[in-house]
Amino acid sequence: MSTIHILFGTESGNAEMVADDIAAALQGRGFETEIAELSEDVAADLADMELAVFVTSTYGEGDLPESAAPFYETLLAERPDLSGLSFGAFGLGDSVYETFNNGIDTLRGALSGLGARQIGETAKHDAASGDLASNLASSWAATLLDLVPA
Ligand SMILES: Cc1cc2nc3c(=O)[nH]c(=O)nc-3n(C[C@H](O)[C@H](O)[C@H](O)COP(=O)(O)O)c2cc1C
Repeated sequence: MSTIHILFGTESGNAEMVADDIAAALQGRGFETEIAELSEDVAADLADMELAVFVTSTYGEGDLPESAAPFYETLLAERPDLSGLSFGAFGLGDSVYETFNNGIDTLRGALSGLGARQIGETAKHDAASGDLASNLASSWAATLLDLVPA
């Protein structure tokens, strides 16, 4: 069974927490997981991954978190062939902003443009809803599990 890579971009830690919750849900169903923060090194390794879950918040004017910028810029510059990659997408944002959850959509667009295939629906947590991101992470991961090849 392939390892599921859980790759997060965060400014204040919420996306990392969600990455942990998703890993726990996947491990509970027998999958192996590896968690890493989005970085230049992760971008270089992406073409060798088969299954990944991207978790990122949105900052600034609808941007990815600052720490995820080198990942994104490397993708755009190197343009790796991601046709072997299937991915799930989980965004964190706040609907008080016009650019609600823009970050995960930016990432999805880049990944799809390089040939990666999205599985499942994009989850979008809204901090203004008052719902715990952990709850959405666990229920979303359960729906993703049905789509992941065993
Ligand atoms: C300064 C600032 C700017 C933000 N900008 C946006 C935004 O443009 N769009 C959005 O959907 N959420 C925005 N948010 C909300 C965060 O994405 C949300 O709080 C998220 O849970 C933070 O997750 P993190 O701790 O993983 O970074 C912003 C939050 C802050 C503090």
